[in-house]
Amino acid sequence: MSQKKYVIDQMISAKSIAARIEELSHEISSEFSSTNKLVVVGLLRGSFVFIADLVRELDLPVEVDFLEASSYGDGMESSREVRILKDLRGAIEGRDVLVVEDIVDTGFTLSHVIALLQSRNPAKLKSIALLDKPTRREVDICADWIGFEIPDEFVVGYGIDYAQRNRNLGYIGKVRFIED
Ligand code: IMP
Ligand code: MG
Repeated sequence: MSQKKYVIDQMISAKSIAARIEELSHEISSEFSSTNKLVVVGLLRGSFVFIADLVRELDLPVEVDFLEASSYGDGMESSREVRILKDLRGAIEGRDVLVVEDIVDTGFTLSHVIALLQSRNPAKLKSIALLDKPTRREVDICADWIGFEIPDEFVVGYGIDYAQRNRNLGYIGKVRFIED
């Protein structure tokens, strides 16, 4: 796929992300303080850096599992059709579950995943997203915890990609296209 040239402008620094994760981890640890083992479900692939940092701040016994849902392909627009590409390894019936998403954009992915996991009868099901783009929402859904609310910009870094690139940036940056 031939791509237009772009640069990445920093939007959220690595330091701000770490500070916000520390705050959120306190709230999550107290919400699940009575759990005997929290199942933390990362949505692949964009949440892999976030989930790694988040679980290390949680003061709880945790188990980590992953689910892959696809709605974007390699482009910049949601297809609005959510497919489960990889399901959880473990059962969640009767368990406390936290779903970890990178970005809530149109909302199709998170609402589909929550409905799917809810149908498996967990004891408690909560969700967290690092980023929220509320102005893009098409489905009425909101994560229980949000790292940062951002404007309608296409972002990369800290696990998040554009056509499978830039996941390894330590910060969140916005993609800005430039002339050749
Ligand atoms: P939704 O189903 O439209 O809410 O899309 C959610 C998914 O789209 C996220 O999990 C991301 O993988 C992807 N996505 C949404 N916005 C961006 C972005 O700005 N950069 C990269 N991926 C994005
Ligand atoms: Mg995603």
